[in-house]
Amino acid sequence: GAPVEVDLTSLAPGEIRTVAWRGKPVWIMHRTPEQIKDLPKNDPLLADPHSDRPGFTPPFAKNEYRSRKPEYLVLVAICTHLGCVPTPHFEVGAQPGLPASWEGGFLCPCHGSTYDLSGRVFKNVPAPDNLEVPPYAFSADGTKLTIG
Ligand code: FES
Repeated sequence: GAPVEVDLTSLAPGEIRTVAWRGKPVWIMHRTPEQIKDLPKNDPLLADPHSDRPGFTPPFAKNEYRSRKPEYLVLVAICTHLGCVPTPHFEVGAQPGLPASWEGGFLCPCHGSTYDLSGRVFKNVPAPDNLEVPPYAFSADGTKLTIG
């Protein structure tokens, strides 16, 4: 499949956009400073907080943000359990199906797997792995993202 180019100038902090890449939905999220700051709070609750498991995290994304730049999250929007598309839940705090300590992230509607705002899977849910980070790069001026 051909690479997909995304214009980042219209993606405000807190916004998420879905594009299609190789027939799969891919999210590009512009995380806020607050969302970035809260990521480490989740570490004790996650199954693979440092993305050590092979196959889902390219070397450039082996960090707390699972990304090249902390403010931009790029993920394949396919649950690692049985392939449903999770739903973003950005409000902090207890909501139906989410932990009381929820700091924002993604909930899979099929069997309740939860992921944080780095796409890292929580413990004790059906999904075994973190959401996949696809290959991508930024343009030199930082205004465009190319996936693939
Ligand atoms: Fe997502 Fe089962 S497909 S929890």
